[in-house]
Amino acid sequence: MSHAASTPSIPTVSSRAKSLTGRAVVPGDKSISHRALIMGALAVGETTITGLLMGEDVLRTAAVMAALGAKVEESKGPDGKPLWRVWGRGIGGLTEPADILDMGNSGTGARLIAGLVSAYPFTTFMTGDASLRRRPMDRIIKPLSQTGARFTCRAGGRLPMAVTGTPLPMPLSYDSPIASAQVKSAVLLAGLHAPGLTTVTEPVASRDHTERMFRYFGVDVRSETVKIPAGRGQHGSSRYKVEVLGQPELSGRPINVPADPSSAAFLVVSALLVPGSHLILPNIGINPLRTGLFDTLQEMGADITYTNRREEAGEPVADLEVKYSALKGINVPAERAPSMIDEYPILAVAAACADGVTRMDGLGELKVKESDRLAAMANGLKACGVAADAVGESLIVRGGGPKGNAPVLIPVELDHRIAMSFLVLGMVGERPIAVDDASAINTSFPDFVGLMNGLGANIESRELS
Ligand code: S3P
Repeated sequence: MSHAASTPSIPTVSSRAKSLTGRAVVPGDKSISHRALIMGALAVGETTITGLLMGEDVLRTAAVMAALGAKVEESKGPDGKPLWRVWGRGIGGLTEPADILDMGNSGTGARLIAGLVSAYPFTTFMTGDASLRRRPMDRIIKPLSQTGARFTCRAGGRLPMAVTGTPLPMPLSYDSPIASAQVKSAVLLAGLHAPGLTTVTEPVASRDHTERMFRYFGVDVRSETVKIPAGRGQHGSSRYKVEVLGQPELSGRPINVPADPSSAAFLVVSALLVPGSHLILPNIGINPLRTGLFDTLQEMGADITYTNRREEAGEPVADLEVKYSALKGINVPAERAPSMIDEYPILAVAAACADGVTRMDGLGELKVKESDRLAAMANGLKACGVAADAVGESLIVRGGGPKGNAPVLIPVELDHRIAMSFLVLGMVGERPIAVDDASAINTSFPDFVGLMNGLGANIESRELS
């Protein structure tokens, strides 16, 4: 069921928590889960997936892979945990979907799958919820059109969109103006179907889950940071470059999806802010292109340690231990944005409770996420009595915690991370903080409320008095 259609009447309210303690199993990584299903559909034979995120976004990608001709089945593994099996069709083997693909809330699903179907000689229709229908698709339409694919969409490159793929996809060479794993992956997935070498560069490396999973499946993919000769570099003196050799033969593989560091972020920050807290979070993905938040929090004074470091399906993983810590405000440089792009809402909450001012720069991309997160955080924090300002592409937050004790209601605009961030802020201070629609959280973190309450949080659905 999509949360888009429902009109929630009862807010979800978070009140001061005593302490958060225990061991918590964080759901699977959203980015890796999408890619595991897509690669499974492109490989011949069986791909088994454990740890898959069972959130709405990923379940839609599973349904879409089935609509494109793969066989996708959910069962239980020998340990009683969900085991997904995908029997793929091979590169070039997907078939025309019989109906419009509904990508729900998922920008990743929409953009990666648009890249994929752009390499097939049929037309795919795609739509999404009100949030996704506001988000720009021109960033993928521009490069993918150069392969021979055609796109028809609403004004401003908005969904609904029809993608008419090409029978003979051309290999692309694309210099992306933004560091975006969705853009990079859309081009690489199209490139997997083209003869020869597809190249994509970006100003700095965005998350490299696609490259790692390609490699894990045996695709010939090379990535490196290359120097740009003086005078030509629009975005600095180096760029990150990926090359993929198209039309490989892939066979199914077992994938164990690590827990999502972007979901763990909400538990980590809660533990740092609520006095007396101590959490153990096993099996968290610590891909260096995803750990910007943990690095930043450590710079702010956080007690976070990694133990039991290992690798799963080409991704680095560790267990995290987090203890309550006094945080101080810092400047977070623009260069760090790609490695923590989804974490600014929860970092802003940490900053609101730190000692001193935190300034976060280079946040232009936050304006085109599930909501305009720059505005949502500045406005929401102000409503909670925190001095916060969005200035250009920066967010400046003065610490000291939420002020006042009257309950406050935050509109989440179908944005899961805005909802979870404000529920975390409600755990500190006198002021209960409510969100108008917690159902958005199901896109990435099903049972967030149950898990947090099991650790000591105080979150409930009730009318605000
Ligand atoms: C994602 C890439 C990022 C991120 C999103 C997941 C991915 O988006 O914000 O949540 O899985 O490729 P951009 O590519 O727009 O930066």
